[in-house]
Amino acid sequence: MTLPEDLKQQILHAVAEDGGAKAAMLEALRLVQQAEGWVSDARLAQVADLLGVSTAELDSIATFYSLIFRKPVGQTVILLCDGASCWMNGGDALRQALMDRLGIGFGQTTADGRYSLINSACVGGCDRAPALLIGPDRRLVGPLSPEGVAQLLEGEL
Ligand code: FES
Repeated sequence: MTLPEDLKQQILHAVAEDGGAKAAMLEALRLVQQAEGWVSDARLAQVADLLGVSTAELDSIATFYSLIFRKPVGQTVILLCDGASCWMNGGDALRQALMDRLGIGFGQTTADGRYSLINSACVGGCDRAPALLIGPDRRLVGPLSPEGVAQLLEGEL
């Protein structure tokens, strides 16, 4: 499937706004993900072609940022922080509780397609460690105890 025209125009607009193709690489990936939920190999190649950069160069940007998904993800993405503050404040126990409750590991999606669990560098909530980001608006939740995981997944936090 070719790159949809509206997406192409948005990416070209980003190139003009950001001062060139290289500066717009992350934004181009974000636009693809916003439109399609993730960035497939085919889309990556099409966007690289449009930007005039190599697929490897664009992929290196995509894989550097944990917020760019290179595999299909569930309806709700949980980005669990594995930064130092979270680790020192019970991040290990929280990670285990999430994995036990969801029945998945990092980089995986539940069988019903509801949740994906991804580990992330510091999510910017060190004063609320251990913390995570959840959902399309990347809502920051923390400090979150292992006991709070059930409430989180039931939408009560
Ligand atoms: S280290 Fe976890 S939010 Fe900063």
